[in-house]
Amino acid sequence: MGLFAGRRRAAPARPSTGSAPVADPTRSFSVRLESDGRTFVVPPGRSILQVLTDAGVEVDSFCRNGICGTCEQNLVSGEPEHRDSFLTADERAAGQRIMICVSRARPGETLVLDL
Ligand code: FES
Repeated sequence: MGLFAGRRRAAPARPSTGSAPVADPTRSFSVRLESDGRTFVVPPGRSILQVLTDAGVEVDSFCRNGICGTCEQNLVSGEPEHRDSFLTADERAAGQRIMICVSRARPGETLVLDL
């Protein structure tokens, strides 16, 4: 995973939630760690990556702009709004991975990460 790995860059991200409400970067959502059940609120203006690293969760990152794929995490459940430029359209549609440096979720949604 990550750091370009010979991948062709995906088209700029657009909301992947179909007709569902689009994530609002001015409202909070939650992330839960599958391993220990800890749940964190991701407030407006903060990324999942920032919230997790502030809490002492070790997560690799590099560009922090949704480009390199280094922060990619597996999703256990929840509906993300992909804001990266790394995943392909098919990967976004599958909803199994997320770039936690930029991607978000709808207000009130809980994303469960395989961490
Ligand atoms: S750190 Fe590069 S895509 Fe997240």
